[in-house]
Amino acid sequence: MKKNNLVVPFVKWAGGKRQLLPELLKRIPKFTTYCEPFVGGGALFFYLQPKKAIINDFNKDLINTYITIQNDVESLIQYLSTYKNDSESYYKIRELDRTPLFHRMSDTEKASRLIYLNKTCYNGLFRVNSMGEFNSPFGSYKSPNIVNEPTLRAIHSYFQNADITFLSGDFEVAVKGLKKGTFVYFDPPYDPVSASSNFTGYTNLGFGKQEQRRLKEVCDKLNAKGIKFLLSNSATDFILDLYKEYNIEKISAKRVINSNANNRGNVDEVLIRNYD
Ligand SMILES: C[S@@+](CC[C@H](N)C(=O)[O-])C[C@H]1O[C@@H](n2cnc3c(N)ncnc32)[C@H](O)[C@@H]1O
Repeated sequence: MKKNNLVVPFVKWAGGKRQLLPELLKRIPKFTTYCEPFVGGGALFFYLQPKKAIINDFNKDLINTYITIQNDVESLIQYLSTYKNDSESYYKIRELDRTPLFHRMSDTEKASRLIYLNKTCYNGLFRVNSMGEFNSPFGSYKSPNIVNEPTLRAIHSYFQNADITFLSGDFEVAVKGLKKGTFVYFDPPYDPVSASSNFTGYTNLGFGKQEQRRLKEVCDKLNAKGIKFLLSNSATDFILDLYKEYNIEKISAKRVINSNANNRGNVDEVLIRNYD
């Protein structure tokens, strides 16, 4: 299958991997199936455009949007073209998940809401509060690309021609029963470098030290089965120690989304793998 350059992330996502891509690409082994348990915006996934893939994220609304692009892209584009970029419309759409109406919205309507909010909210950040309600403020951008038709159609056509399984649950479930020849890329919420740099708004559950340890155990299980994995995380002492028996490389990368301006800049990241 020929790669299509229009196939790129359709949402901006905290922790998006576009900047780290060149470093990731140098380390991708040959595989038969690609698996990404924390897909987010899917920078690496869309770059690779694998023929066979298992894609997962805990965020159900996000995975619903992937599935909608696969199955109902024209209605999605129709809905998106009805939205306006002003603060009144924004907050009206934003508050829908606080009303009973939300449960009656179709999957395509929900997907269009997610893309609209992502394109028009402040910093393009999908952030939810402890109730799981979207809470980013309006972004006041001049002309956000709310309806990116070429990209949405290109992704649709890629999804139609590839064999992709979409899952929306915990990472541990997403890697159950993987076969040798599968390559797994883990991009979990990062271990915080400092208390103030901790971005925990991906889900209303958070991702603490216990979750990082559980992820390491999952990596050990894959390793025992001879399945190759690559994992990115921040270069904290905790992570360096946790994965000390694996191949660890430090990479300096600019973090784009960081709510605390003082923490912007270069923070070391690590790429960890179990193969040469
Ligand atoms: C660092 S982001 C991934 C960024 C992505 N690689 C990109 O390029 O945009 C981490 C993702 O993990 C998801 N997540 C958080 N907890 C999870 C869990 N227990 N299982 C699966 N996904 C989870 C979040 O919803 C978020 O989308």
